[in-house]
Amino acid sequence: MTMRLVLEAFRKLRAEDFKVLNAVERGMARFMYVPLEEIARLSGLGEEEVALVTKRLNALGLLQRCIGSYVGYILTSRGYDCLALNALSKRGVVERMGASPLGRGKESDVYPALTPGGKLVALKFHRVGRTSFRQTRRVRTYVGDRRHISWLYQSRLAAKSEYEALKILFSAGVSVPKPIDWNRHVVVTDYLDGVELFRTPPLDDVAAFKDRVLEEVGKAYRAGVVHGDLSEYNVLVVSGSPVLFDWPQWVPSSHPMAIYYLKRDVGNILKFFRRKYNLKCDIEAEIKKVIG
Ligand SMILES: Nc1ncnc2c1ncn2[C@@H]1O[C@H](COP(=O)(O)OP(=O)(O)OP(=O)(O)O)[C@@H](O)[C@H]1O
Ligand SMILES: [Mg+2]
Repeated sequence: MTMRLVLEAFRKLRAEDFKVLNAVERGMARFMYVPLEEIARLSGLGEEEVALVTKRLNALGLLQRCIGSYVGYILTSRGYDCLALNALSKRGVVERMGASPLGRGKESDVYPALTPGGKLVALKFHRVGRTSFRQTRRVRTYVGDRRHISWLYQSRLAAKSEYEALKILFSAGVSVPKPIDWNRHVVVTDYLDGVELFRTPPLDDVAAFKDRVLEEVGKAYRAGVVHGDLSEYNVLVVSGSPVLFDWPQWVPSSHPMAIYYLKRDVGNILKFFRRKYNLKCDIEAEIKKVIG
């Protein structure tokens, strides 16, 4: 529901609005909330214009006005969304975006979008610490409160990390959504027309499908990547084949905890097949197969 508001606001934005949003984003690296003079300095706009534009952006819900020992602004998550969308649209990656989500998780929202060429893609907006961020929006003064910055920073880190994993995995031939681009907290991948494994689509051969999932886990491991949060919720069945998605928390295979996470991933998958399909297997033997 809020994405509709983001898109409505986004359509109204002009060049000076983006200059101000950009300036506030940059200013937030140094300020709890960014004073008007600093926004003016960073945007290259006059202070009077900055005062007008920040007021507009505040009314659109893209900036949050903060009053403490001085008046200043921080980005809201909607403002951050607009900056990412603007960058992706200027790069020619995304032309139009849908307002109803393909999926929502604890820490992300996924939306459909079209490229200028008319190709359907998925935009994953990372929202790390979304609950604590909402709390900060209710707070009047922000002195001593850096949660808004860590929301921005951590969401961007999550997107960067997920894109990095997808690049490695896709070029190693692991079955994952094809990575297209990322900006700030947003990762763009191919759109996948499938059903999550937990929704139990009719599987022709359950044991063979389980083997195919674990084969991908093994390929990923050999490519240097362990998922770390694998379960029936993060496997999509696309035309009868498994696609492994949702990678921000991945660890490299060389990580001291990699084998621990790998075993847990494999265990989750086997548990699902046992519970849902009464498929019994030897966990240790399966893990050996995966590690190779
Ligand atoms: N490339 C894609 N194409 C189509 N739908 C997608 C795509 N990626 C994700 N989705 C949909 O969005 C949902 C959420 O995606 P994902 O699992 O990556 O994030 P998440 O569930 O928010 O993460 P978390 O598991 O941390 O809560 C998926 O269950 C799926 O329905
Ligand atoms: Mg998920």
